[in-house]
Amino acid sequence: MDLETFSPGSGLLEPRAALRSDVPALDLNGTWRFRLSPTANVPDDFAQPAFDDAGWDELPVPSHWNLHGHGAPAYTNVDFPIPVDPPRVPDENPTGDYRRVFDLPEGWTGGRLRFEGADSFARVWLNGHELGFWTGSRLPAEFDAGPYLRPGRNVLAVRVHQWSAASYLEDQDMWWLPGIFRDVTLTRSTADVFVRASYADGRGTLSFEGSGTLSVPELGVADLAPGAEVTLEAEPWTAETPRLYDAVLTLPEETVRLRVGFRTISIVDGVLLANGRPLLFKGVNRHEFHPESGRTLTYETMREDVLLMKRHNVNAVRTSHYPPHPDFLDLCDELGLWVIDECDLETHGFGMIGWRGNPTDDPRYADALLDRMRRMVERDKNHPSVIMWSLGNEAGVGRNLAVMSDWTRERDPSRPIHYEGDRSCAHTDVYSRMYASHAEVELIGRQEEAPLDDPELDARRRGMPFMQCEYAHAMGNGPGGLAEYQELFEKYPRLAGGFIWEWIDHGLAHPEYEYAYGGDYGEPVHDSNFVIDGLVFPDRTPSPGLIDLKKVYEPVRFEFGDGVVRVVNGHGFADLSHLEFLATVEADGETVAEHRLTVPAEGGEVKLPAAPGPDSDSGSGEVWLTVRAVLAADQPWAGAGHEVAWGQALLSQPAGEAGEAVEAVEGAPAAWNAGLVRDGGEISVGSAGGSAFDLETGRLVRLFGVEVEGPRLGLWRAPTDNDTYGGLAGKWRGIGLHRLTHRVDEVEIGDALTVRTRVAPAATDLGLRATYTWTASDGGLELTLDVEPEGDWADPIPRLGLDMTLPAGAVEHVTWFGRGPGEAYPDTGMAARVGRWRASLDELQTPYVFPQENGHRADVRWADFGAFTVRGFPAFGLTARPWSAFDLDRARHRPDLVPGGRVHLGLDLAQQGIGTATCGPGALPAYDLRAGRVTFRLRFEPS
Ligand code: GAL
Repeated sequence: MDLETFSPGSGLLEPRAALRSDVPALDLNGTWRFRLSPTANVPDDFAQPAFDDAGWDELPVPSHWNLHGHGAPAYTNVDFPIPVDPPRVPDENPTGDYRRVFDLPEGWTGGRLRFEGADSFARVWLNGHELGFWTGSRLPAEFDAGPYLRPGRNVLAVRVHQWSAASYLEDQDMWWLPGIFRDVTLTRSTADVFVRASYADGRGTLSFEGSGTLSVPELGVADLAPGAEVTLEAEPWTAETPRLYDAVLTLPEETVRLRVGFRTISIVDGVLLANGRPLLFKGVNRHEFHPESGRTLTYETMREDVLLMKRHNVNAVRTSHYPPHPDFLDLCDELGLWVIDECDLETHGFGMIGWRGNPTDDPRYADALLDRMRRMVERDKNHPSVIMWSLGNEAGVGRNLAVMSDWTRERDPSRPIHYEGDRSCAHTDVYSRMYASHAEVELIGRQEEAPLDDPELDARRRGMPFMQCEYAHAMGNGPGGLAEYQELFEKYPRLAGGFIWEWIDHGLAHPEYEYAYGGDYGEPVHDSNFVIDGLVFPDRTPSPGLIDLKKVYEPVRFEFGDGVVRVVNGHGFADLSHLEFLATVEADGETVAEHRLTVPAEGGEVKLPAAPGPDSDSGSGEVWLTVRAVLAADQPWAGAGHEVAWGQALLSQPAGEAGEAVEAVEGAPAAWNAGLVRDGGEISVGSAGGSAFDLETGRLVRLFGVEVEGPRLGLWRAPTDNDTYGGLAGKWRGIGLHRLTHRVDEVEIGDALTVRTRVAPAATDLGLRATYTWTASDGGLELTLDVEPEGDWADPIPRLGLDMTLPAGAVEHVTWFGRGPGEAYPDTGMAARVGRWRASLDELQTPYVFPQENGHRADVRWADFGAFTVRGFPAFGLTARPWSAFDLDRARHRPDLVPGGRVHLGLDLAQQGIGTATCGPGALPAYDLRAGRVTFRLRFEPS
């Protein structure tokens, strides 16, 4: 059967560029007749025009049939969901038959049927005549329809098999989603053109390959002939300044409109350059994904992706791991993103069997691999945004890489070649890796990486720019360590930056789970929530990871000095003239002054207006200066006023702030004793009205009239994906940190209420001595917690803080002064700035698709919960939830989290770092939380 041959297709026309022509095209998208069969062995009589499809279903084209009630999706990362036995495939081979009747407009002759994408093997008939078959799911295919078109009624039939010999080339980490999922057209355009537009020293050079003539009216270029070259004054195209010139290709039968961008990509002394200047990727890996429609995207969704990227200071995208819909590249040209266009090739599953039989090294697959490369390069060759060709992803090594790379180099010497899977870089122009640790990236930056065995290849690779085609795995809470990577990228010229894995969570909309991941459709082989690893949630709401990334990728930096701020232009190509600089002074989070700063276009030192001093009457009295760079005027990707970058400096704080509370505790024992009233088993504190402790356990039972449990020592957090996949969570459960016991050893009432406890898990001699010392003053209660570990605490612990619960409804909103508005952990939260913030309980939760620790607000000086206020000395970390950390731990999908009868507060001294151990390094050692002797002080006051 054809579907088990190595041949990439039959009957196909030569690949050509995706172009906008003025000749008519017929849109064949819409409602088609559809029938799904469980195997490929079904008669193909349906292709005959007279076939009666009245009993068939309807299916929209483009779409995936298994997202429309025909079968179910399945998710695997590395594993093939079929036996690895190329080119054979299982008998169970979902096969979709499609029929579409269309009327040919009057006077229409000739034309090509063009399919932008069908997953994975498709055969096409027109009016009962077979035109051929094709593979390469994310690549276009064209067939000559001319000889078989009829005036009036025409019947188009397509059969799509889910599995074929080509499936072994498409083992990308994503849902298996068969069907005709991109546009179908009948076009009379036959044009092809390869425009070459380079830039150097203020001048653009233009030529083209093809036929006809090329004109660029704005530049005065008229009727340029193929092969002729002109050099003229032109503005360059960059992702920051995406200058495009309208061009017209005139052919005898049609006119094609193109947009030309002048730019040159080069590598000089191991540094990647665009138009002669260093190019630093601030990138993301983008899969095409929509929670309802899978890899079928509307233009609006593609545009939303580009806008969101631009608004979060992303400047580059790797089209992981296949060429995107062609419209996406038009948007990148227009709005400005550097693109690494990646071939539709991944054979990762062969890695599970020692790479035996890997198609990348199998000459029988050579044609198919070359065909994929050619179809990508030919389709996308005219895009200024596309600046590198990638041979594919995780396809191992082998002879066919040379075949792909050699052809590409010859066809288009203007773009470097990328492939990560071959460490020798024998067939590439850049050294690319994924998930290398900070330490290794630094070594590579210094050109001090471990050598390759082959000295020649080693010398060649050492002279290459380095990039991380994937780093900082954005799965669940995180990624941590972004800022430290960026520092390295900006320090070493050899480092060309990298691309976060990945843009979007591939959670499929699900009636019960809200968003489904691997296993939710009963797949026997799956990789669970590894498909939920994006910077935006499935509905494209930015996750905290994206908000942090925006901060880390800021193209402007602020360095504060005494009465001055130095504004550093971090753009690669643009100056600062498109920005406006606003300075705000806030005392305890209240704005007290605002100024506009005049910043030279190239940046530099700017004097700051005199700021008011600390206001002793208002709360903490800290005075902060925030300088913000915002768009001065509307840009195509964001409106005037959009914030691009910001910096903060502490101008002043009241002297001795941190020591104040301790003074109060020591200075006022009388208040404690004076107000004490014993009442049955309780002892109430008169000076802190409505507050009482249990005499026997020493536990606080009421706080300013609110019934409470705790505060008591807590170490647990619902493991993050990084905690789990990095192995830490297993160690935590191994020593029982999720099931701590609390023993009260002594309750002593004197100048203070002192409660001595030992907190420990069963089955080990590890423990923590926790001593709570309560005192009262000025109508409030102060707690000092002393913690002393016992035993050998080998690994970092999840967190160290106090857990406390209140009746549901006791906390509806929290107002706090500290970092916000979003969550922050030791190695995340770069986007969290100091200020006064307010959020509802609901807004304090980050709805990760796979529930886990989230929502921690950092460096909180005080928080007003409505019922009472907590002050930290100097600060604390805060979580407030309508469920416990244990509920969060047990939950598998968002709807599992249901508010219970209590509000759960976490008042933390410290949290373990987040890291990116789902893929890559764990938290850097500086962010590890080790059990140690600590003291933690809080004050509770009525609100
Ligand atoms: C990489 C791979 C990606 C994705 C990631 C894990 O190895 O290239 O496609 O699988 O790991 O999420």
